[in-house]
Amino acid sequence: MPKGKIIVIGNEKGGTGKSTLAMHLIMWFLRRKKLVASMDLDGRQGTLTHYIQNRASYSAAHGIDLELPEHLTVTVRENPTEEERRTDEAAFTDQLERLQAENDFVIIDTPGADGYLFRLAHVAADILITPLNDSLIDLDVLAKVEPETLTIKSPGHYAQTVWQARQKRAALKKPQTRWFVLRNRVMHVSTRNEKLIWRLLEALGKRVNFTPLPGLGERIIFRELFLKGLTLLDVGSVRSGVALSMPHVAARQELRSILQAIGEDTSFES
Ligand SMILES: Nc1ncnc2c1ncn2[C@@H]1O[C@H](COP(=O)(O)OP(=O)(O)OP(=O)(O)O)[C@@H](O)[C@H]1O
Ligand SMILES: [Mg+2]
Repeated sequence: MPKGKIIVIGNEKGGTGKSTLAMHLIMWFLRRKKLVASMDLDGRQGTLTHYIQNRASYSAAHGIDLELPEHLTVTVRENPTEEERRTDEAAFTDQLERLQAENDFVIIDTPGADGYLFRLAHVAADILITPLNDSLIDLDVLAKVEPETLTIKSPGHYAQTVWQARQKRAALKKPQTRWFVLRNRVMHVSTRNEKLIWRLLEALGKRVNFTPLPGLGERIIFRELFLKGLTLLDVGSVRSGVALSMPHVAARQELRSILQAIGEDTSFES
């Protein structure tokens, strides 16, 4: 039975770059001719869904053939009854099983807040990637930091959510989720704050079992690409109509490093 790899992008903090990263991973695998399905669990906000719709519109308007994933949008209920929750969970599990059976990769984008399907997605994750803005405020969901000594006091709320999901996964006899915490929007100049965050992430990673990754720099191009539904992997090709610039090249290299770090093949150019 073919079993696609499930990659979940998650964090209990909003605005850290989850949907942007999800879209780039989808396109990375599609460009490599993999079968890819995507799921937007943040249906209310729908950023990933809109990103994909923008791509379809751009593709149609310019008469170009841009790859698109099989995409599902899921809107989670706000106050479900016990029965509604069970129904939604069963539907989610069924959909995920089908997508996994029919695709090489299933990429799940999640909202920046806890919820019943959010938790289920974390249990299903073969790989979990958590983007994190480079600040102590964002680190708070991962760890409580002692203000005087600047050391880790205890794991934060999201680290506990992941721990619980891993417990459930172990009960299902599935291999442990490989968890990566990725710094996003890193400034180009190295600061004391940046070094501190890296040191704290390394210490926390050893404690709660994740691998910290250097991640993506702060670049305006990510915001510009969204409206056209394009990614770093499309620019520079005749069909996209967007010229390649130095920031694109640098960001693409960072993306490749992420794929390498999570163990994916990066041996040929997109
Ligand atoms: N590396 C980056 N450089 C510059 N801007 C970025 C970068 N990554 C993401 N952004 C921008 O940050 C904003 C938030 O990104 P995104 O929507 O991907 O985050 P999110 O974690 O999915 O947010 P939410 O929790 O609301 O779903 C967007 O405007 C996006 O273009
Ligand atoms: Mg999002």
